[in-house]
Amino acid sequence: MKAIAVKPGTPSSVHMAELPQPSLADVPDGTGVLVRVLKVGVDATDREINEALYGNAPEGFDFLTIGHEVFGVVEETGENVRTIKPGDYVTATVRRPGGSLYDQIGTYDMTSEETYYERGINLRHGFMTEYFVDSEEYIVRVPQGLQHLHVLMEPMSCAAKAIQQAYEAQQRMKVWRPQRAFVLGAGQIGLLSTLVLKNRGLDVYTLARSPRGTLNSEIVEGLEATYVSTRETPIEELVAQVGKADLIIDATGHSGVAFDAMNHLGHNGVLVWTSITGGERTVEVPSDKINIEWVLGNKLLVGSVNANKSHFESGIKDLALGEMMYPGVIERILTNPVDGFDNYQELMRLLVEEPTALKVYMNVSDE
Ligand code: BGC
Ligand code: ZN
Repeated sequence: MKAIAVKPGTPSSVHMAELPQPSLADVPDGTGVLVRVLKVGVDATDREINEALYGNAPEGFDFLTIGHEVFGVVEETGENVRTIKPGDYVTATVRRPGGSLYDQIGTYDMTSEETYYERGINLRHGFMTEYFVDSEEYIVRVPQGLQHLHVLMEPMSCAAKAIQQAYEAQQRMKVWRPQRAFVLGAGQIGLLSTLVLKNRGLDVYTLARSPRGTLNSEIVEGLEATYVSTRETPIEELVAQVGKADLIIDATGHSGVAFDAMNHLGHNGVLVWTSITGGERTVEVPSDKINIEWVLGNKLLVGSVNANKSHFESGIKDLALGEMMYPGVIERILTNPVDGFDNYQELMRLLVEEPTALKVYMNVSDE
């Protein structure tokens, strides 16, 4: 069957590869689920993988099949599968367990090992294929009523985890009632984080460079959050107007902004970093000022990567509530479909060159 792959270590190596058709027998304990792929999203990680900045091939292969944001339909299930049936729409988690305690209890997103296994990213083939098989453990049901949001399940799981981590970490406060949140960046993670925080009842300010009137600002406003163009209102000015934030999510992909965010967090607050910054940027920071303010203000910084099945499930609930509250808004993130495996070059071109694209994805098959 067809697969879209790269040669890790070789820039711009995206190509069409051939993989054997998977079958339920690949999961010997009877928990296998055979999924026919309908859509696969791409993001900055895929761009970095194709630029050879990131990612490794599975053992025994010199190529890596890309694609970690998948949406498909179940064709067949093993005899021990209980929660999923043929015809169900599904997505799949990205990480697969290593050897640590956290890996063994379903929290592979928190592995304590240096090596991590991620489908489509590191040491495991991805989902940009015609079919894939995986154990029920890694397959997440997508409600039929959310099928139009297809490839957003994986990015949503990362946003849901980041915010859940913030709330869990803040149990250190015994009582924590955050009111104001800043979301830095209005790409997919920023927009989906905006939704999760709105669902939690916060006063959300989403900051990005582009002026108001662009699609991302319309989506933010559609979610009844406040869009702030940092070209018009730098974050310092926003803080002067409304005060510091109780919670900041950085999703800019820019480590300089992630560090600068440390200047704008209120006492007892939490800052979450979610960006994968593959480059080698260095920035100068006012370290004495940040150090004293963070100590005197009991502030917390948390890094958050990936997501396990429970975060997918909670993200899906947030999408469902979002559809009730703000119908038709979230699907506006799905800006750039590309039809079929043959158009993989166009897929990568849009990902790299189209500045207005919020989500580029491959439409493998309509049904
Ligand atoms: C993916 C995550 C992954 C991370 C690091 C992101 O693009 O969405 O699932 O853990 O890259 O590889
Ligand atoms: Zn991703």
